[in-house]
Amino acid sequence: MAEISFEPPRGMRDFYPEDMVLRERIFNAWRTAARRHGFQPYDACVVESLDLLERKSGEEVSAQIYCFEDKSGRRLALRPEMTPTLARMIAAKQGSLNFPVKWTAVAQCFRYERMTRGRKREHYQWNMDIVGEESCSAEIEVMAAAVEALRLMGMPDGAYRIRVNNRALLSELLGKSGIPAAQHAAVFLALDKRGKIPDEEIAVLLKAEGLDEAAVAKTFELLSVQSLDQAAELAGPDSPAVARLRELFALAAVYGIQDVLAFDIGVIRGLAYYTGIVFEAFDTAGKFRAIFGGGRYDNLLTTIGGKPTPAVGLGFGDVVVGEVLKDLLGEEVTSTKGGVLIGYMFPEQREAAMRLAARLRAEGEDVDLMLHKAKPKQFFARAGAGNAADAIFIGPDDVEKGVVRRKHLEDRSETECKL
Ligand code: HAM
Repeated sequence: MAEISFEPPRGMRDFYPEDMVLRERIFNAWRTAARRHGFQPYDACVVESLDLLERKSGEEVSAQIYCFEDKSGRRLALRPEMTPTLARMIAAKQGSLNFPVKWTAVAQCFRYERMTRGRKREHYQWNMDIVGEESCSAEIEVMAAAVEALRLMGMPDGAYRIRVNNRALLSELLGKSGIPAAQHAAVFLALDKRGKIPDEEIAVLLKAEGLDEAAVAKTFELLSVQSLDQAAELAGPDSPAVARLRELFALAAVYGIQDVLAFDIGVIRGLAYYTGIVFEAFDTAGKFRAIFGGGRYDNLLTTIGGKPTPAVGLGFGDVVVGEVLKDLLGEEVTSTKGGVLIGYMFPEQREAAMRLAARLRAEGEDVDLMLHKAKPKQFFARAGAGNAADAIFIGPDDVEKGVVRRKHLEDRSETECKL
């Protein structure tokens, strides 16, 4: 038999207890922020039907699907994202749901990606989606929940920006440049590759979609627009797409998050289903890939056979934000101290230690009980290296007196605790 490697398969991740500290910090922030914003949790199978996920649109994600056949020949896949599954679940119950619905999930997703910083072949992705709301009250609510999650994780507001654009604005501008609507979706996907591949290669992609030299030049020109006012000038006074963006920024001020939002015509998103406002969050230092991304996708329900239903949502992975937090906050994010470690010197004190553990646990404390007798030195060495904030070591005298000392490991202060 070939030697078995102790490493997980390439791109997959193990989480040792010390890795769970940061992961729990992230997951707890996601769940708290979702609850505070009225999102209901849902969940789904990790294995999806390949037919649902397969789209012939030239998206990167469709080329990255882990797929296989089951023993009955069904074409299946590990989900690369949650949105098609969400759409399927909504479509299945469309008649009985009370729209708009606000749903949230932390979904493990798989993508056979080229491995780079911030990109793994497996990640956890927080999804928040509002289905059934046309106004941009939905966009701002989703963004505000994401901002709250970042704050709960300890990310300073100044450390990132949510860059916002509107595909409808790009469509208006491309239309004015004489590029027909039928080509816009392909143009978006080509432009999304900007920064990842050279502009010359993007030009080749655009020409393959039927754009001539002049149209390609105009398309690149659009991307040099620096502000919403400049975009508004190009789009003309009655642009619905500009009005929508202005409304969103006004609502951001109402929510008090205007400072973290910025217009950026270069944010396009790599998924084909977005129809309106799109957004992506990046660290302000520009060192990392997108922290999260999302947008409006009003046609996805109809694409998969459901009734027309507007929708907005975002996906927020655990990998990039974990790297940003480690970079900004250092070791602090990977360790937590809490609870109490209880130990005892001889077998005769075992019962006293167990009774004390049971009592403190019943009072709601987190208690780690040593399972063997230990010498004081051994016990305190273990306590010092572990995660407990406090340590209680029971010796024969303590049982006799009915009182034991509780040591606060950080400042070495002590309090008394009844046995
Ligand atoms: P996405 O931009 O493909 O959107 O992914 C969203 C986020 O998931 C990214 O910003 C990143 O944080 C994380 N992510 C994606 N791929 C990887 C990877 N290979 N390794 C680590 N992290 C990754 C979507 O998936 C949409 N379905 C989001 C959405 C929900 N739109 C509407 N609702």
